[in-house]
Amino acid sequence: MNTPLQTVSVATPGGHYPINIAPGRLDTLAQSIPADATTIALITNPVIHALMGERVTAALNQTGCPVMTVMLPDGESHKNLDTLNKIFDAMLGAKLDRKCVIVALGGGVIGDMAGFAAAVYMRGVRFVQVPTTLLSQVDSSVGGKTAVNHPMGKNMIGAFYQPIAVEIDTNVFNTLPDREMSAGLAEVIKYGLILDPEFFEWCEKHVVGLRARDPELLAIAIRRSCEYKAWVVSKDERETGLRAILNLGHTFGHAIEAGMGYGEWLHGEAVGCGLVMAADLSAELLGFPQSDVQRVRDLVTAIGCPTVGPRLGGVEQWMSLMQGDKKTEAGEIKFVLMPKIGETIRRTAPAEMVARVILRNTV
Ligand code: NAD
Ligand code: GLY
Repeated sequence: MNTPLQTVSVATPGGHYPINIAPGRLDTLAQSIPADATTIALITNPVIHALMGERVTAALNQTGCPVMTVMLPDGESHKNLDTLNKIFDAMLGAKLDRKCVIVALGGGVIGDMAGFAAAVYMRGVRFVQVPTTLLSQVDSSVGGKTAVNHPMGKNMIGAFYQPIAVEIDTNVFNTLPDREMSAGLAEVIKYGLILDPEFFEWCEKHVVGLRARDPELLAIAIRRSCEYKAWVVSKDERETGLRAILNLGHTFGHAIEAGMGYGEWLHGEAVGCGLVMAADLSAELLGFPQSDVQRVRDLVTAIGCPTVGPRLGGVEQWMSLMQGDKKTEAGEIKFVLMPKIGETIRRTAPAEMVARVILRNTV
């Protein structure tokens, strides 16, 4: 099948850029490098480099611009300031100037760190996102959120900084572990829950094919997800309002990630479980139908993500972790909740109600 290039546009005050989606896009990356680039800093990790580093370097060499590779350790547990500093050490050591271009090759961990490095290296250099996991293709590479974790909270140190392009090769999934595919699908179904009941139904209908990595279904899921995300961030780049809907399930999810220790649960797994908890809280607070809570639970199960969270140190620790999340305002936890599938509202919830939701959905 000859799949044509599909382009979704993002238009934010911080930058306008294309999301180019096609199989084989890794081979045409030179197209996204501006002609005045002085050096390309390819930021990746050894796992991804072993799979596609040579191919990507060859593609970037077509620019005629020198390419240096900055290798970071793999995994969420390394998404921190120490690892970020390794990028600066390498780039300063190689005397990269302000006209260098960073290429982030990898999943959301690489994308978030390379993007943050781009935001602050010499007060900002251009960068291209080349996401290689499903999660990073449908979510993290788009919209300019960049960050590292702090022991006291997820993504606490970061910046809004838009890439100059997002290059999505839809042919990179053969090597991706099943768990990572499931984690990515959690962010896909999130778009249906927050914006489009028909897309949620489409995910229910095609979940088996999506998990089996059917290329046509994945291409649709990726394009639709990028369209939803581009629409939201183009309206509200800095999360002054609307963009918060993208955090459905994340207040619970981030508590799981931080409480278990970063990397124990995958981000998407924690979000999947968080979607169930958000649906359950929505039912108790807003009358979201119980039958739809079950649909959410069934779909999260069907994509292969856990629906029951860890009890951690109990309700108190859960509350404390959620209080520490970025979405907290003046000490109040603002949950993204659903009156019905496809609609969201931000609300605080009585502590005893949240405690019941935690107890019902954790072991
Ligand atoms: P990840 O970056 O850790 O990648 C998952 C694993 O897959 C890693 O071991 C990676 O090396 C490996 N990998 C990557 N591509 C591969 C491929 N094609 N084949 C085989 N292995 C491959 O995890 P992720 O799920 O991509 O990203 C999660 C991160 O994204 C979290 O830190 C989360 O906070 C962040 N995130 C950011 C945003 C945002 O808007 N910036 C949104 C959602 C999530
Ligand atoms: N993943 C949440 C956001 O980009 O806003």
